[in-house]
Amino acid sequence: MTIGEAILAGQQQLQAAGVEAGRLETELLLAQLCDRPRLNLWLERHHQLTPGQAEKLTDWLARRATREPLQHILGWAPFLDFELHVTGDVLVPRPETETLAQWAIQKLAGITGPRVLDWGTGSGCLALAIAQAVPAAEVHALDVSPEALRIARANATAYRLADRIRFHLGDGFKALADPTPFDLLVTNPPYIPAAEIETLDPEVRLHDPRVALVGGEDGLDCYRRLAGEARVWLKPGGWLLAEFGDGQADALTELFGQAGWSLEAVEKDLSGRQRVLIVRAPVHG
Ligand SMILES: C[S@@+](CC[C@H](N)C(=O)[O-])C[C@H]1O[C@@H](n2cnc3c(N)ncnc32)[C@H](O)[C@@H]1O
Repeated sequence: MTIGEAILAGQQQLQAAGVEAGRLETELLLAQLCDRPRLNLWLERHHQLTPGQAEKLTDWLARRATREPLQHILGWAPFLDFELHVTGDVLVPRPETETLAQWAIQKLAGITGPRVLDWGTGSGCLALAIAQAVPAAEVHALDVSPEALRIARANATAYRLADRIRFHLGDGFKALADPTPFDLLVTNPPYIPAAEIETLDPEVRLHDPRVALVGGEDGLDCYRRLAGEARVWLKPGGWLLAEFGDGQADALTELFGQAGWSLEAVEKDLSGRQRVLIVRAPVHG
């Protein structure tokens, strides 16, 4: 089978399985399999796949046709300048979370040697992005999932950022032993209402970890905890930046406002949806 024939066959197989971007995804699989940039696939469309490559492609396409995420098959997902290792133990980093990372990095400009906490680090995407962009930052990252932390650590090691990020295992702030307050907390907590899980695409519903998705009955459980608990972990006026889901902005501004936080902004992601809550800790004392 040639590369060109494989692209067409893969496109048809994936589209029949409900994968809209069947051609792109087949090309991404082939690019990794043949160790070539995607552009070269077209230039080398008459090139024959080896029997080993053809067999592996058949296996990968069959997995993708069951709606296993492309990123799990490739073993990595893009996030800003990174290609992060991912498995079913971590949420596949989403493009909209890049917006959250960029806002956090922007808020850190001008703070000398900031202490930063990534609450619910998953693959480590936010912690890595901040550690790389803000060399003077002391970055901490926590997660309740030991498997996620293992992957986050591996990603930090792969990008030579392991000595810049301290990882903590535990349920929320219980993971932290040192009470020194942070300048900024960034988080993309689980925020999907429990009953909505069954309505999501199979890639998410069947393959992202539940602990990374479900935020209680209304999706807001983690925000309630953060609004109540995070203030003592932040310096007075410290920043909290949180990603949230569609339709949650009003409930969140009310929730944090009632808990004494000052609302700075609700920012949109690249698709124009309200996505990032930016608040500042109460100035107490
Ligand atoms: C939506 S995922 C986000 C992962 C990553 N920050 C990202 O943006 O891709 C939420 C993460 O929070 C973690 N998590 C959920 N509940 C937690 C809790 N009570 N304490 C600490 N981490 C928690 C999950 O294990 C998961 O890794």
